[in-house]
Amino acid sequence: MNLVFMGPPGAGKGTQSRRLAVELGVPHISTGEILRSWTRVDSDLGRLTGPLIDTGKYVTDEIAIGIVDGRLRSPDADSGFVLDGFPRTVPQAEALSAMLLKSGKKVDLVFLLNVSEDVIVDRVAGRRSCPVDGMVYHLTVNPSKVPGVCNLCGERLIQRDDDRPERVLERIRLYKNLTSPLIDYYKERQLLVSISGAKGQEGVWAEILREIQSACSWACKNTSGNASVKWLA
Ligand code: AP5
Repeated sequence: MNLVFMGPPGAGKGTQSRRLAVELGVPHISTGEILRSWTRVDSDLGRLTGPLIDTGKYVTDEIAIGIVDGRLRSPDADSGFVLDGFPRTVPQAEALSAMLLKSGKKVDLVFLLNVSEDVIVDRVAGRRSCPVDGMVYHLTVNPSKVPGVCNLCGERLIQRDDDRPERVLERIRLYKNLTSPLIDYYKERQLLVSISGAKGQEGVWAEILREIQSACSWACKNTSGNASVKWLA
């Protein structure tokens, strides 16, 4: 399946979409993670986009579309993918449809994770991320086994620059102005599945699995060897 996760900052898109991609055996494609990886090496693109990301602004549609267009051409995305944080504007959504159409594909489902501003502020304040593999933790809800250290690679965890309170407010403002129009865009196309992201991580996960099962029961039943088959057992 070709899946999209959208929602405000801190809604849990990264947490859930990464887990779902592992479960389905398809790539997890996060434009935010790819952009952050650019800033860690000395490059023109990193110098151009780093200040935008750090201050909570969006990069241009052209850059975001270019990232996804290139990534979706990789063979590992042929049998499906989970997009996290893309599309974020209506032009990005239109570009995504056009790029998929070229290979006879389409977006199958769009998960919208809804959370209130209070929840966003709490989650973002407590978030700690691994700069190497993008793993995300929370100081209280989802702490790493060794405090301050990534469970997977042992790297020291960091607090993202764009997680400072004033930058989070800017990100919420942009989400409302530029990304929330996508809610109607995908509703009209009957692709939107709206989920409360305010529940605990396992509660949100269970709801996502339920929605996928009901949306793809035919495909799952007819795909032997696919990880998703086990959900039907
Ligand atoms: P991006 O990395 O995509 O940031 P974002 O959309 O603001 O989302 P976040 O990563 O802040 O949150 P999330 O929803 O993934 O939540 P998470 O799972 O981490 O993008 C960063 C920047 O890149 C953008 O601001 C922009 O500048 C640029 N960019 C990216 N894509 C772009 C595009 N397409 N166009 C233009 N610019 C683009 O969870 C948050 C915390 O809560 C964690 O600590 C987690 O452990 C915890 N948590 C998660 N779920 C739960 C739960 N259910 N209960 C309790 N705690 C939870």
